[in-house]
Amino acid sequence: MIELGLPTRQPMTGLPDRVTIWEVGARDGLQNESAVIPASVKIELINRLAAAGLPVVEATSFVRPEWVPQLADATEVMAQLPKDSGTRFPVLVPNLRGLEKARAAGATEIAVFASATESFARKNLNRTLENQMEMFGPVIEAAAEQGIPVRGYVSMCFGDPWEGSVDPQTVVDVCRQLMMAGCASLSLGDTIGVATPGQIKNIVSLLRTADVDVGAIGVHFHDTYGQALANTLAALESGVTTVDSSAGGLGGCPYAKSATGNLATEDLVWMLDGLGVTTGVDLAALVQTSAWLAEILGRSSPSRVVRAMIG
Ligand code: HMG
Ligand code: MG
Repeated sequence: MIELGLPTRQPMTGLPDRVTIWEVGARDGLQNESAVIPASVKIELINRLAAAGLPVVEATSFVRPEWVPQLADATEVMAQLPKDSGTRFPVLVPNLRGLEKARAAGATEIAVFASATESFARKNLNRTLENQMEMFGPVIEAAAEQGIPVRGYVSMCFGDPWEGSVDPQTVVDVCRQLMMAGCASLSLGDTIGVATPGQIKNIVSLLRTADVDVGAIGVHFHDTYGQALANTLAALESGVTTVDSSAGGLGGCPYAKSATGNLATEDLVWMLDGLGVTTGVDLAALVQTSAWLAEILGRSSPSRVVRAMIG
């Protein structure tokens, strides 16, 4: 039995009126499941997330299926996306082969995913930090010719499991390369969830100084060390208005073993509802969706709000 609750509303100054939640559970969450989830479950998840009012639901990835077998059914999933829901359904694409497959499957929005470190570029992309743009540049250019907006993820912005700390200037350089190549927006990934709020404020400030429009910056926090919500508040105070999260806190990265789930969408919506920041998301519908998925996955959701509301 789900007990429906809402936080007491008490706004704070210096925050945006509205935040766009970029839901990544169906992609970042399910790419990390050891069991292969049937396409029918993925499709129902995406439908439920769209019905809960999420404006952006990252649907799947067109990567090499040998690298991420969990999402090898990308074309099948794309064929059954909800129609006329008003929700956007971007997909991850690493290269021209991926773009071709994504377009054939009907994708109208994509994301490339760069690394801020050498180790992760090699492990996740089989490329070097220096030559990763040789793969992404042509994708971004071809997408632009087709009128397809491209988001540029940057992973390991705040710490790397092999290299330790990451030079913020390298993060800024990769962000600038993506924007100059034609990305419409960015997402700063704390892939292993080690960042703390001062790092977030620092990187946003450095990006502003480097002439990156803060409106183009999204944040993507994994919650490994329990810092994701604090980092989100720091990002909002810095002017960021797009926040990535995953329903029920699903997630991880198959090529970064220490990564756990993303910031849970329910925990984010609880905070934003309390702050009076509009998201358009129906918290109860979202909690019910995560409860349904947790039952299918056979384990409880790591989201604190889901646990509190389900009892
Ligand atoms: P590669 O092995 O270097 O590929 O992989 P290649 O370019 O040498 O091509 C080899 C063969 O693969 C060719 O076939 C290609 O056609 C085929 P052959 O000629 O030998 O028959 N191929 C493909 N087939 C289908 N779809 C494709 C594709 N590309 C090549 N797209 C590659 C390079 C980048 C493709 C590989 O490393 C890869 O797929 N990596 C993806 C890893 C991944 O998905 N990681 C998780 C997502 S990133 C993430 O989670 C972080 C994020 O959440 C943010 C954060 O938290 O920080 C976004
Ligand atoms: Mg991620």
